[in-house]
Amino acid sequence: MKTLDEITRALKSTYMDHEVEEKLPLIQEIQKLKKEKNAVLLGHNYMTPDVFHGVSDITGDSLYLSKVAADTTAEIILFNGVHFMAETAKLMSPQKKVLIADLKAGCSLAESITRQDVVDLKKKYPGVPVVTYVNCTADVKAETDICCTSANALQVVESLESDTVIFLPDQYLAANVQNLTKKKIITHPGSCMVHEMYSAEDIELTRRQFPGVTVISHPECKTEVVDHSDYSGSTSQMSEFIRKSGAENIFLITECSMGDNLRSEFPEKHFVSTCQVCPHMKRITLEKIRDALLFDQFEIHLDPEVIEKGRMSVQRMLDLSFKK
Ligand code: 13P
Ligand code: SF4
Repeated sequence: MKTLDEITRALKSTYMDHEVEEKLPLIQEIQKLKKEKNAVLLGHNYMTPDVFHGVSDITGDSLYLSKVAADTTAEIILFNGVHFMAETAKLMSPQKKVLIADLKAGCSLAESITRQDVVDLKKKYPGVPVVTYVNCTADVKAETDICCTSANALQVVESLESDTVIFLPDQYLAANVQNLTKKKIITHPGSCMVHEMYSAEDIELTRRQFPGVTVISHPECKTEVVDHSDYSGSTSQMSEFIRKSGAENIFLITECSMGDNLRSEFPEKHFVSTCQVCPHMKRITLEKIRDALLFDQFEIHLDPEVIEKGRMSVQRMLDLSFKK
């Protein structure tokens, strides 16, 4: 747990002094409430700095947070992220109360596919294993053989015996994996509304403006973007790359808060160029988190059949990625 001084320092790399002063009482109120309720607050890397540094107990990418959700001993999990992430936490800890501060925090990828779409694909390609990116509903996970995240998509695809794999619902992540595997990938026309906005031209312009800049992209981007980048990986893999590399000027091709959160960790580095906002992630605010803890809202409920089947697809992924 960060001290109030550490939180203040981290927030000052993004907010004006008076904004930090305004946020601190709410942050303290949330800290007190979560202790009283025995709640753990999990925060995705795309949360704004006040939520990320101020109140989240454990932060990370989708893969790490699904593992934490499976292992936590807290009574309540409040997921500071989007709806599919809270559903994944419920799949992995069905006996716990899982909350999300705003039920409308969705995802363009999760909205792109239904359980029936997966059933239809399985009928069209009988016997072909189905890998789904965790950015989908629990219903879709229930029709899935194994989940993956952007951190382990290639590893999951390569772990399957079949030469052909159905990979859903992100067409761009699927294309990026296709470039790295000999297996034939069948996909679906889903996309992330944030990452699909970037083009190779954005990279070329930035390289011209900032010679020597290191370009780091998320694999939900188009293949042309990933191909023109120096590195591509999940949100936590991006942070790790920055930590280990000597890169000083960085063009981070991902959601805006990622750069804001990293700026406080790496004050000596320079993050250049523009970023894209995910409106779903931005629905999670300190005020709504306070209310979620005060009123135990909004609870994630899933059908027991969906929990049983969906959980297995996530568990298989965790077993593969965290095998001892
Ligand atoms: P990761 O944290 O797994 O890279 O996920 C990115 C994302 O888009 C989540 O919405
Ligand atoms: Fe979905 Fe993209 Fe937003 Fe992540 S950043 S929640 S993939 S829309």
